[in-house]
Parts: sequence; C-alpha cells; structure tokens
Amino acid sequence: MRGRKVIVVSPAPLLLPLLLAGCDGVQAVLSPAGPEAAEVATLSWVLFIGGAAIFVGVMALAAYALLSPPARRRWLSRPATVVAAGGIFPVVTLTVLLTYGLVLTEWTQTTAETPVAGATPLRIDVVGEQWWWRVTYLDDDGAPVFETANEIRIPVGRPVQFTLRSADVIHSFWVPKLGGKRDMIPGRVNQLTLTASEPGLFRGQCAEYCGGPHAMMAFEVMALAPAAFDQWLDAQRQPARAPADDFARQGLALFLGHGCGACHSVRGTAAAGRIGPDLTHLGGRRTLAAASFPTNQGTLAGWIADNQHLKPGNHMPAFAVFTGVELRALAAYLEGLE
Ligand code: CUA
Repeated sequence: MRGRKVIVVSPAPLLLPLLLAGCDGVQAVLSPAGPEAAEVATLSWVLFIGGAAIFVGVMALAAYALLSPPARRRWLSRPATVVAAGGIFPVVTLTVLLTYGLVLTEWTQTTAETPVAGATPLRIDVVGEQWWWRVTYLDDDGAPVFETANEIRIPVGRPVQFTLRSADVIHSFWVPKLGGKRDMIPGRVNQLTLTASEPGLFRGQCAEYCGGPHAMMAFEVMALAPAAFDQWLDAQRQPARAPADDFARQGLALFLGHGCGACHSVRGTAAAGRIGPDLTHLGGRRTLAAASFPTNQGTLAGWIADNQHLKPGNHMPAFAVFTGVELRALAAYLEGLE
C-alpha cells in the first residue's frame, strides 16, 4: 500500500441538490406564499442560523481544548465555566427561543370565535378521511354551501378559516407554502387560518401517518384573484353538467346502473352517496385520488378498473366488470363533469 494515495470522496455534495430541492417548488417551507408561512420560514432560519453558530462555537472550543497548551486551556475546566457554558447558556438560549417561537406563532391559536383582522374570512371545513380530503365550503354562518374533494381554491389576500376534522384516524393538514401543519383528530375540531398573498398552486400533504396509502394523501390549494375565485365559486354551486353527447350519456347510465351512486354524489343526478368523494365537478379538478394522478380519461378509466393497483389499500373496490368501451364511456362522462 506504500506510496498509494487513498482518495476519499465525500457523498455530501451529491446530497446537496436533495437539500436544496426543499428551498423552492409547490411544497417548500422556505419559499412562503403567505404571512403565516413567512413566520414559519423566519423561525426556521433563526433556528438554523442560531444552531449553526452554536455548533461552530462548540467545535472551536473543542479544538481549543485539544490543541492549545495545557496552561492556556485550564480555564475551560473551572467550575464557573462549566456552570456558565453547560447550564446557564442553554437555559437562557432555549428560554429566549421558546418565547420567541410562541410569540411569533401566536396566529395559530385562532379559533372560530377569534375575529380575524381585516377582511371577513372565507370558511372551509376539511375532513381527513382514509385517504382523501372532504372539503366543504361554508357560508358566513357556517352552513354548508357545497362539497368537493382534494382540491381547495381560495382567493388571494383574504384569510381562510379552516375547521379541520377527522372521520377515522389522526391525519394532519399541511400546506407548507401557506403555513404550519395542524392535526385532524377524531372527535375534535381544530382551527387554522391561512392567507395566500400571491396567486399560485400550492401542494398540501397529510403530515401524520394514517395507515396504508398515507403517502398518497395529498391535495392542491389554488390561490386565485378574487374575481376568478368568485367565478369558480359560482360554478361549483351549480349541479353537474348534463352529458354532452350519447357516449357520455352511456357513461352516466353505466355510472348509475352499477351502483357508483351508493358511495359518490353527483349533484343533479340520482347519485347521492356520502362515503366517497363528491364527483359533481370532478372533471374540473386537476388531480385524481388525492393529488395522485392528473385527471384525464386515461387515469379515470384506469382508476375505475384497477385502482387497487394505482393506490393500494384505498377503500374503493376495483371494478373489473367493464369492457374497454364502457370504461371509455364512463371516463368521458366523468371528465365532462367540469
Ligand atoms: Cu392521512 Cu396521513
């Protein structure tokens, strides 16, 4: 081995892109799109920079303790140094940080009774279900206006007061670009107020392991200019569109004839099931199966025929009874529900 150079390659640079990927994108804590998320980002930076400074200080002291002449490093082992650096410093630092964090994140303590400063908040009820999100828009008095699923549209600049509930196990509602996460606990109603300060598409994710396809329990939040939002709201209030042609009509007949309406609602038809997601405006949603796939005829047909392959463990049975043409008709009908 003599004379041979050993080159050690550190994997750290290879991991850097992975780390930096968290700094931007539709689900990034460090690129906030609202005041609540900005506070979380600020707190993250304060903790990171403070932690880094303390780490560097401790490493410098360790090097000093190892390398400096014994006479010069003696003060390090004095009782006063140990008490100050090992006891007083952490207690003071952690107390200051805790107080700062509590004051900064005081916004998270809002409840339905707490008035939100500025505009009247929009009220939306979200129920976490294994493994999707039941979303109900409420009027100012808290009465339901319409139901949708897995996609939440909000107006830019107006606070949105979410009531968060669970239908089964603990889930957690988290839209990193808009704010911190909040658990959805069976038997409890939690509150969270978020505001989008810019239009855009933000991704949310269930942040508490809830069994089976927890990783495929995502959703999208779309922040729209107020006029565009009002237009969308008006369209959502309407019952489902009638099928556009004979092929889609055939799809509707198959949908009703095979009992899809036992679990799903399509307002304006006989389908009024409450178990699965409301499909009234399914074709207008960007994604399918809790932000797992884009909504198009291919994914819709694939989902009906073999959803247990696409999202294993989800509560919808696969319907392998349809022919290819029937699946296409069903998909055409569902995609037309804009
Ligand atoms: Cu719902 Cu994890």
